[in-house]
Amino acid sequence: MMNRLIPVLLLAFVFTFGACGGGGDAPPDDGSTDDSGATSATNPDLPFQETLSFGEVDPTLVTEGEELFTIRCTTCHKMGERYVGPQLDDVLDRRTPEWVMNMILAPDKMVVTDPEAQALLAEFAVPMTNQNLTQDEARAIVEYLRTTSTGS
Ligand code: HEC
Repeated sequence: MMNRLIPVLLLAFVFTFGACGGGGDAPPDDGSTDDSGATSATNPDLPFQETLSFGEVDPTLVTEGEELFTIRCTTCHKMGERYVGPQLDDVLDRRTPEWVMNMILAPDKMVVTDPEAQALLAEFAVPMTNQNLTQDEARAIVEYLRTTSTGS
């Protein structure tokens, strides 16, 4: 009697166990496949997608950049001291030129996707407004900022 029951019970056990395992596995495994596709380094929404390579400082571009900076930026930025926004003389020691280009051209987009821009907004509590500069104008300002930073 017992000898016949054991294989039956074993079979029943294997079926039950197998069915339970298969049914219960699927949902928890799905959650860990895709964390986040958004990385700030390659955000196609940002206007400046090139890589800047610096040669010799271009004095004409520096003069143009300094004039633009005085007109468009000094309401909020000073050199060497925090104002409405961060000091900018040393910004190229802290950030890549590409990051600075995008911050000048599209601060409104940067605060949406870039963690460093978000941290700045949290710290300064004022969003930088989009100054509607052209890419050439932004590039001139970056050239000027090269001359105010200590590194390059
Ligand atoms: C209305 C005020 C305002 C104006 C005008 C303004 N900015 Fe800003 N800027 C800010 C504020 C506030 C921050 C920091 C908070 C944030 O990112 O929103 C900032 C951040 C920046 C940063 C990032 C600094 C860092 O420490 O990484 C750069 C670069 C910058 N601005 C460049 C410029 C340039 C160049 C101009 C002129 C074309 C300009 N800004 C005009 C307010 C301004």
